[in-house]
Amino acid sequence: TWRLGDFAKEAILKMRAQIGDARVICGLSGGVDSAVTAALLYRAIGPKLSCILVDNGLLRKDEQAGVIAEFTNHFKTDLHVVEGEKRFLEALAGVTEPQAKRKKIGYEFIECFKDEAKKIEDARFLAQGTLYPDVIESGAAPDGPAATIKLHHNVGGLPAELGFELVEPLRDLFKDEVRKLGLELGLPEDLVWRHPFPGPGLAVRCLGEVTKPRLDVLREADAIMIAEIKAAGLYRSTSQAFAVLLPVQSVGVMGDARTYENVVALRCVNTDDFMTADWSHLPYDVLARISTRIINEVKGVNRVCYDISSKPPATIEWE
Ligand code: XMP
Repeated sequence: TWRLGDFAKEAILKMRAQIGDARVICGLSGGVDSAVTAALLYRAIGPKLSCILVDNGLLRKDEQAGVIAEFTNHFKTDLHVVEGEKRFLEALAGVTEPQAKRKKIGYEFIECFKDEAKKIEDARFLAQGTLYPDVIESGAAPDGPAATIKLHHNVGGLPAELGFELVEPLRDLFKDEVRKLGLELGLPEDLVWRHPFPGPGLAVRCLGEVTKPRLDVLREADAIMIAEIKAAGLYRSTSQAFAVLLPVQSVGVMGDARTYENVVALRCVNTDDFMTADWSHLPYDVLARISTRIINEVKGVNRVCYDISSKPPATIEWE
């Protein structure tokens, strides 16, 4: 059967043949896919790799710092960080419709990326961490379903007009294979086992309008959920866990006073390929700790719900 050791060697040779002496730009998102893509390229072409991290202001708590540390300390890549928070939030102001959000984010991402890429001389190629399921779900596979379920900004995102030739070494792989490959390439366990995170980031988990204060509430709630899942030893046995900020407020009581505040939904799923998924049957005591902590520690949240929908018919993300 097919072995990853051979896959890595073959992919490196194939990329070297494709790339020659040219420079490659690779976008880093903080996720596993782009990190493995970059690590594989680093093995193939070393100093000819330039990475771009667009901080869209939609990343999880402390995420940017972790990525920067990894790709400057461990892999000594030429890393460009674009501070895009202001620009993304301006573009998202007043936008609530999910596909419209994805479109705006995709557009801003391209603009930020283009501006930064222009500064990198002799770049001819663009590397992307597209996986097989992305190809299928976006209907981009020649023999795949034509219907577009969600606009994945990492697949349809960077258009041909950028003038780059694409390098997509993970195109035939599923997530578990990408993780194995990451470990083989020397990426740290906590990065390799990081749950996937969508390109449009917290914007598709911040239902309704995306504003800095709402994102901050979501970031805090999300960090608590992840910390408690990890503390319970469940991070590795679940596929994706995150918080969602709902666009509704609910009535609560604190002391003798009435509150009218935000609702957070918790989402945790188990899946092999992310094309179908089951909601995770988390222990009640873990759910209780997450709920209590979020309500006590995150200002502006007075209710927590657990999402018990499977995919299909629900998708993993809420938008
Ligand atoms: P859904 O919500 O479609 O998600 O069941 C399936 C998997 O894809 C992730 N996802 C994305 N990943 N760009 C990405 O890189 C995107 O635009 C995007 N949208 C969803 C989602 O987190 C889940 O792992």
